[in-house]
Amino acid sequence: MHEIIEQLESKRQRARQGGGERRIQAQHAKGKLTARERIDLVLDPGSFEEWDMFVEHRCTDFGMEKDTIPGDGVVTGYGTINGRLVFVFSQDFTVFGGALSEAHAEKICKIMDHAVRAGAPVIGLNDSGGARIQEGVASLAGYAEVFQRNVNASGVVPQISVIMGPCAGGAVYSPAMTDFILMVKDSSYMFVTGPEVVRTVTHESVTAEELGGAVTHTTRSGVADLAFENDVEALLQVRRLIDFLPASNRQKPPVRPTADSPDRQEMSLDTLIPDNPNKPYDMKELILKVVDEADFFEVQPDYAKNIVIGFARMEGSTVGIVANQPMVLAGCLDIDSSRKAARFVRFCDCFHIPIVTFVDVPGFMPGTSQEYGGIIKHGAKLLYAYAECTVPKVTLITRKAYGGAYDVMSSKHLRGDVNFAWPTAEIAVMGPKGAVEIIFRQDIGNAQKIADRTEEYRQKFANPFIAGHRGFIDDVIMPHATRQRICRSLAMLRDKKLENPWKKHGNIPL
Ligand code: HXC
Repeated sequence: MHEIIEQLESKRQRARQGGGERRIQAQHAKGKLTARERIDLVLDPGSFEEWDMFVEHRCTDFGMEKDTIPGDGVVTGYGTINGRLVFVFSQDFTVFGGALSEAHAEKICKIMDHAVRAGAPVIGLNDSGGARIQEGVASLAGYAEVFQRNVNASGVVPQISVIMGPCAGGAVYSPAMTDFILMVKDSSYMFVTGPEVVRTVTHESVTAEELGGAVTHTTRSGVADLAFENDVEALLQVRRLIDFLPASNRQKPPVRPTADSPDRQEMSLDTLIPDNPNKPYDMKELILKVVDEADFFEVQPDYAKNIVIGFARMEGSTVGIVANQPMVLAGCLDIDSSRKAARFVRFCDCFHIPIVTFVDVPGFMPGTSQEYGGIIKHGAKLLYAYAECTVPKVTLITRKAYGGAYDVMSSKHLRGDVNFAWPTAEIAVMGPKGAVEIIFRQDIGNAQKIADRTEEYRQKFANPFIAGHRGFIDDVIMPHATRQRICRSLAMLRDKKLENPWKKHGNIPL
């Protein structure tokens, strides 16, 4: 018995050392924390329950039978974040470069299976050289087992990936199927093929950072959601994100009591909209002034900035915010913003998070690059997502709601539950000038006539009343009362029940 306990302690000790002091120092020298240090930061102190510390790989090729490390390059288990259960895996770059063996994959699969059964999020801390080269197809099989579980867990429990080192080859596809990807600047990258292969095949010369670093993926490709300066910042923000989310699709989002009164009036909103309809204003100001304690967790803040998405709370309960941003491209909907918002709307719908939509949209972005890039299909994604979702939907039109974009942005016709407009709202097929130039084309040479017609059109449509007459707008509200009216609407909708017709699944325009 004594001997077993000694053996146990020695194995634990070896597992904790990972790839040894030299490699740990190399990891620190790159500004990266070790797998265990990361877990300590992301979880509540002392809450981590580790599993499978004694798992070792089974490879006997290339002398690997002599080279085993307990735990095999990934630390797995569960713990809590602010008292709420989460499952976690953290790849240990100091052990075979965090490369994924069959045994390593089995450890990840085990916690994913438990997470789905227990109904708790999975947090993956990725730092890996990809498939364990010595294991060949056994490693590829391990990846595919993880992929299958990512898909099964999608919409059941939130899945969050943090990329904290290399992530190449097929390895990027597991994070790609999770709900949120957070990256660390200058020490993490994701790509399907690395710079060397790119150079050989396309003759492009590019660094790993340029090809797949945090800035690239949060500004250009949109693959990742958020970029952070270092490991600590990224892990603390994972904790903040988890606080907004329900543990699974079996639960409602968590409620955090707040001293911010739902009846708070925000008088400064009465002057938010400039007199000139072509002058922009910052939609984020409206968001911050309306939500609890100005606490807004923005997702993808540096990608497709013409739409703003993120989590906030109203009267303590999580809501998803989707808002056109007039400061960027006049708030137009284009390919990137449609995709960005569509995925977010679907995430909220999976996890019973009500959606508050702020609308100021002059329409879809015109042009060949948009048409050739498939704006029809991509714009349809957002339309589909809003139409399909059954969570409470509260919409406010602050200014422009023109054309198809009016329909798309959580309109009454797509089962918007409560649709408000500010007195400054303009709801029409298009802006007055464009409209007059089409329907009064014969008068285009006559400036006075065109001006009169434009004014006539503006008088008729540049207000919320035509939509109000038909009940498409439930009420025209004063800007200062926005928080109160949205909070009341969400309270009324708390037990909303709405189901889509039975189907295996729909066929969203991918
Ligand atoms: C086994 C690996 C490994 C791997 C790294 N190591 N990658 N061992 N399998 N895939 C080991 C190294 O031998 C080394 O061991 C240690 O990890 C650290 O690696 P270094 O190269 O010294 O570190 P660094 O210079 O930081 O470079 C990291 C790296 C590089 C960029 C990740 O190691 C690399 O390019 N590795 C290969 C990447 C790769 O091609 N993976 C397969 C992708 S295809 P020692 O003992 O010296 O510490 C794939 C298919 C998945 O993943 C398909 C799923 C569908």
